[in-house]
Amino acid sequence: MGAPGSGKGTQAQRLIQRFGIPQISTGDLLRSAVARGTDYGKRAKAAMDSGQLVVDEIVLGIIRERLAEPDAARGFILDGFPRNIVQAQALQKMLTGIGAALDAVVLFEVDYDVIIKRISGRRSCPQCARVFNAPSSASGDVPRCDQCADHPPLVQRPDDQEATVRRRLEVYERETRPLAQFYEQQGLLHTIDADAPVEDVTERLVAALSSVPAPA
Ligand code: AP5
Repeated sequence: MGAPGSGKGTQAQRLIQRFGIPQISTGDLLRSAVARGTDYGKRAKAAMDSGQLVVDEIVLGIIRERLAEPDAARGFILDGFPRNIVQAQALQKMLTGIGAALDAVVLFEVDYDVIIKRISGRRSCPQCARVFNAPSSASGDVPRCDQCADHPPLVQRPDDQEATVRRRLEVYERETRPLAQFYEQQGLLHTIDADAPVEDVTERLVAALSSVPAPA
């Protein structure tokens, strides 16, 4: 859990390598559905572009499908889901249905002025989807992916315009932040100060997770 731009995706990518389990990001799954023009994607696009939450029915549908894929059998990292109480309750039911349990919930705390700055510099590679923080240079050169062989130009997400980011932060405060209390009451919540260099946040994250008892 964490506000837009708090570093959920960046850190989830690092945990994939460390723990060998997949990242399941509802944002990425929805963007992929939009790009492929699926029924879910067509219905989700307007809400995403305007910084609102996509309706629960769609989000729960894509999560249900994703959790049924073989690579999720050994565990998974949920990134950006659940985002409201209805989704949290539905997740509990789904996990009970597949005989799994939530081991931990991590909340990333970052001041909103830092977030606005981070998101304005976020660019991603249209080929490998890797996320960078690379604002355009003063000379007007477009930053390019250094991971892909043909170095494609990096692109900005349509919902990363400042006005839309501010709306996403309001939605986060209203709908998602209250889930921290929901998970705290269940003894699952670990809060991390995520306003630090990426490597330091990873260390804090891994330290928090190492205190979690191994699943039975
Ligand atoms: P989603 O894609 O989930 O966006 P988000 O939650 O708003 O989170 P972001 O991806 O913006 O940020 P992040 O925390 O992953 O940060 P990142 O690591 O990229 O959702 C998009 C939309 O989809 C939603 O608005 C909604 O419409 C819909 N949606 C998704 N899930 C939904 C759900 N469950 N229900 C309903 N609707 C849903 O980092 C950000 C930038 O900061 C990057 O440039 C990165 O390089 C940089 N950075 C990261 N860490 C650091 C650091 N420690 N120091 C400096 N820079 C850093």
